[in-house]
Amino acid sequence: MSERWKRERRKDQFYRLAKERGYRSRSAFKLLQVARKYRFMKRGDTVVDLGAAPGGWLQVSRQIVGKEGLVLGIDIEPIPGFPSFNVKTMVADITSESVAPMILDQAPSKIDVVISDVSPNISGAWDVDHARQIHLAERSLEIARRILKKNGSFFCKLFHGPYLKTYESTVSEFFREVRLVKPPASKQRSSEIYLLALQFRG
Ligand SMILES: C[S@@+](CC[C@H](N)C(=O)[O-])C[C@H]1O[C@@H](n2cnc3c(N)ncnc32)[C@H](O)[C@@H]1O
Repeated sequence: MSERWKRERRKDQFYRLAKERGYRSRSAFKLLQVARKYRFMKRGDTVVDLGAAPGGWLQVSRQIVGKEGLVLGIDIEPIPGFPSFNVKTMVADITSESVAPMILDQAPSKIDVVISDVSPNISGAWDVDHARQIHLAERSLEIARRILKKNGSFFCKLFHGPYLKTYESTVSEFFREVRLVKPPASKQRSSEIYLLALQFRG
């Protein structure tokens, strides 16, 4: 990490807010902003978070679903422990075929919401990173299709690039409502964008 990067991070309002509020990542605000605006996650829901480490989205999801809900986080890296009884974490690679059945084994029923902030290691080569991200987003969609309840929701990180439109139209085959969203906490200069898909056709 360069000194300049560290300086910029200290100035960033969402980085500071995340520290103040005890969120594990500044990304927590991206989920919070979209969840507040579109209300796709509610008290009592079962939520699966793909690419969940270090756990900012798990914290936000747990706040929304409350004591009655369940939150399952999956990452290829270990996720630091959670004090809540209804946040469970697993170490797994989402490209593995065994992930969907493993999730269903942990949940009392099918899933209400699948969120995915999964990201490849950024190489800096824009086209390579876009292609790798799309591959992970395709895997997230496949998992969502296997575990979601009818009318469930899917929220997934993407990067702008040539495969974005095709991905969006693939998602539209399985969900009634699909939109791209850029939450205020997502940096304007970042090519990241989020896809929100509502009403899984089942
Ligand atoms: C941007 S971080 C997620 C941050 C998280 N939403 C939060 O708020 O704390 C992306 C995560 O994707 C994970 N990841 C990358 N490839 C993965 C894979 N194949 N399977 C599971 N997790 C993966 C990384 O380990 C990393 O923790």
